[in-house]
Amino acid sequence: MTARLRPMRWWDIPAIVHLEHELFPQDAWSSGMLWSELAQAGHPGATRYYVVAEEGERIVGYAGLMAVAGEGDVQTIGVARDHWGTGLGARLLTDLLRAATAFECGDVLLEVRVDNDRAQRLYERFGFEPVGIRRGYYQPDNVDALVMRLADPGGSGPTAGARKPAGGATAPGATAIGTGSTTEANATTETGETP
Ligand SMILES: CC(C)(COP(=O)(O)OP(=O)(O)OC[C@H]1O[C@@H](n2cnc3c(N)ncnc32)[C@H](O)[C@@H]1OP(=O)(O)O)[C@@H](O)C(=O)NCCC(=O)NCCS
Repeated sequence: MTARLRPMRWWDIPAIVHLEHELFPQDAWSSGMLWSELAQAGHPGATRYYVVAEEGERIVGYAGLMAVAGEGDVQTIGVARDHWGTGLGARLLTDLLRAATAFECGDVLLEVRVDNDRAQRLYERFGFEPVGIRRGYYQPDNVDALVMRLADPGGSGPTAGARKPAGGATAPGATAIGTGSTTEANATTETGETP
């Protein structure tokens, strides 16, 4: 069965909190945090876009984007362990990047644990490049975050090839280590929702 992507709704929150605890045991989001994020999605002037992947009645993945002043930020992305490696992470990220394009984001940033190789590989396949390190970003583990940036999210995708060198942008408050960029595409999300 193929998971279907659709906009996240308030009634999805308990299932997502459950997944959060499985996937991020040290710093899982609470239902209050998700309520607060959803309150900023799905209406005129929205600054968030949240999507879930549903298989039958089960939520097997989710992701969220913040878009403010032309800059996107991947807030979260998670896939149920028994669905890892099926391409669902890539579908969710593709959907977020289409939303970022609809929000007219010139670039998209994210933080990822320096020890999270799997997620970093996913982001690299889409053209995200390391731009800095945030020391001790993940507490209580005191693990650093790698800050990654994708310029021009409209051109991204898991097969995005041509990358061009870009200027020396560094995430605010992060130690610079590099930059990158990609190409063009359309802004229709897989859920069909206008962010
Ligand atoms: C990171 C995460 C979202 C990736 O999700 P995913 O669904 O496994 O991602 P994908 O399937 O799209 O890609 C992952 C791997 O599967 C492979 N893959 C993709 N499509 C596939 C398919 N149809 N068949 C087999 N393998 C496939 C990819 O090549 C990739 O392999 P590689 O990374 O070894 O090169 C998931 O591992 C997760 O939820 N992790 C815990 C939470 C987390 O760390 N989130 C990120 C926080 S920054």
